[in-house]
Amino acid sequence: MADPKERIQYLRDEIRRHEYQYYVLDHPLITDAEFDALMAELLALENAHPELVSIDSPTQRVGGAILDKFKTIAHRFPLLSLDNAFSFPDLAQFDQRVQNMVHQADYITELKIDGVSVLVVYENGVFLHAATRGNGLTGEDVSANIRTIKSIPLTLKTALPRLEVRGEVYMPKSEFARLNVEKEEKGERTFANPRNAAAGSLRQLNPQITASRSLSAYFYDVVYVEGATLNTQQEMLALMLEQGLPVNPEFRLCRNIAEVFEHCEQFTERRHELPYEIDGMVVKLNSLAGREELGQTAKSPRWAVAYKFPPEEKETRVLDIVVNVGRTGIIAPTAVLEPVSLAGTTVSRASLHNFDLVAEKDIRCGDLVLVHKAGDIIPEIIRSFPEKRCGTEFIVRPPENCPACESKVVRPRGEVAYRCENINCPARLKESLIFFASREAMDIEGMGPAIIEQLVERGLVQKLEDIYQLDQEQLQGLERMGPKSAAKLLDAIDKSRQQPLFRLLTALGIRHVGPKNAKILSRHYGHMDQYYHVTVEQLVQIPEIGPRIAESITGFFAEPRNRATVEKLKAAGLNITAAKTAPGPLPLTGKSFVLTGALPSLSRSEATQMIEELGGRVSSGVSKKTDYVVVGDDPGSKYDKALQLGITLLDEASLIALIEAERSLYTSN
Ligand code: IVH
Repeated sequence: MADPKERIQYLRDEIRRHEYQYYVLDHPLITDAEFDALMAELLALENAHPELVSIDSPTQRVGGAILDKFKTIAHRFPLLSLDNAFSFPDLAQFDQRVQNMVHQADYITELKIDGVSVLVVYENGVFLHAATRGNGLTGEDVSANIRTIKSIPLTLKTALPRLEVRGEVYMPKSEFARLNVEKEEKGERTFANPRNAAAGSLRQLNPQITASRSLSAYFYDVVYVEGATLNTQQEMLALMLEQGLPVNPEFRLCRNIAEVFEHCEQFTERRHELPYEIDGMVVKLNSLAGREELGQTAKSPRWAVAYKFPPEEKETRVLDIVVNVGRTGIIAPTAVLEPVSLAGTTVSRASLHNFDLVAEKDIRCGDLVLVHKAGDIIPEIIRSFPEKRCGTEFIVRPPENCPACESKVVRPRGEVAYRCENINCPARLKESLIFFASREAMDIEGMGPAIIEQLVERGLVQKLEDIYQLDQEQLQGLERMGPKSAAKLLDAIDKSRQQPLFRLLTALGIRHVGPKNAKILSRHYGHMDQYYHVTVEQLVQIPEIGPRIAESITGFFAEPRNRATVEKLKAAGLNITAAKTAPGPLPLTGKSFVLTGALPSLSRSEATQMIEELGGRVSSGVSKKTDYVVVGDDPGSKYDKALQLGITLLDEASLIALIEAERSLYTSN
């Protein structure tokens, strides 16, 4: 086999090249699966040869520990902000001031990306750290989070001794919309705009959260460079591009202010077509020598200005406030508006998100309101005009019963949303069924969304329990379903009757009760009937179960419609008891572990407990008999000894994966 060192180098280069193609150029050359295969091979090699892991490896984007708080970083050079121009006459004035000092005033106009300003520093071509702009003099060290942004390279194309670049981290409009839907479904507060969403995602102490939000970045300024000379903004942009940094392609060299106007005008229209939000254009003197001459004030340079687009807001009237039940049971108010054209489309509805917000903004049926589009796409009411009321307007309050099924509406603790808790509510049914049959729940093979869609549309399934009454003939009647596949599906449904209790508990879709909590619960309460009587006080005795989870469980079983469904499922012959623990020794019996260094999230005693629960032993010294050494930050000499003896090394993530795998094999028997 090839030298692992060489192979690792080859894989890293390939992965970097493809990341650049995909995330920066938006032009992938290979399929996702091919990319994943490269990454998997690299990960495996690095696991087998931990001494070859390096900080700039593509595998190291997420690896950072959860922080207590951010460190501060003092910027070497102050990061200035810009003066604003709100009209073309303002821009002409700026041009005049520039022309008074420099003769040949060429400008570069760029899009003003609406995100978070960051500084990224590379040393010898390798990512060193990244900071927010902060107050311009010091910012927060957000290196671990910036590393997770795939369009930001961890290595430059050439090993410049030092490069400090400034750019904007932003959240694409589509990701902003997705994230807000997700937040709304969880009953959490939504982000007001993509900038807040980007800032919120970047200021996460846990880099895993940042990594899960598709952030991206564009760079627009070289703050400092060693190893290259630059004379113009154009050259700056070119240098950054050559080094593999993402640079927004829509910049333009303008020979005079008329061309600047033209470019600004063009994007006042086109801004809505862009996949990210811009709030204006930045006009910069191209010549760096000219910039020297013009200088700067305490806050901003005299050689650049931000042209801000006029806000896109319109007044209209609220014709009605209607209440919808979402696919996850959330009951949300929506304003029906007198149609207005706004940011390129006609708007006639605006989500009001939740009833707290309606009260906070004092929005009433019949009100005159100001609307805009959050993130340039989501219509939203900014404010009402109480002073313009005529007396016929009225307040719309949350309903006491679900508009779709009449169940009592609840408002879970800590959430802004009201919910329908009835799993069989027609508004939620498809979603409930998809989850019920899914791999993490009852795992009914062949019962995917397309089949469920048909079953519900045809009225064959009106409640979860109806799944277990389906027959061959009914299934055969579905589209693209022959006798053979119908029989197979029927068999899969039948087999699911034997699933252990934790799967059924999961499948009921009780909020906060995923497979992990369901397993914990079923170890303590191993019979379904116990859940009818268990109290919040009893449930919170279980160390992993907090009041929010406990209330969700008792709330679920308090709803008579849910109890009726559970009874029907029992009658259909489903297993309602926890699997007996498998006979024989525990899965890690005889295995010895040694811990060294601080693990990112588990304490020493938590890790020990996890290992011991499955029969493993944790000892203090490494010897030939040690099976695994778990390595954290700043490992001691045990790490060197483990390397010498060639003992299998685990980091926290792989320890957890090992434990989970063993545990699930063990308990699902
Ligand atoms: S130039 C001295 N260019 O807008 C250089 N800024 O107040 C100053 N921004 O804080 C920045 N896109 O966060 C520049 N193409 C661009 C930009 C841009 C967005 C942000 C940046 C800055 C704010 C201006």
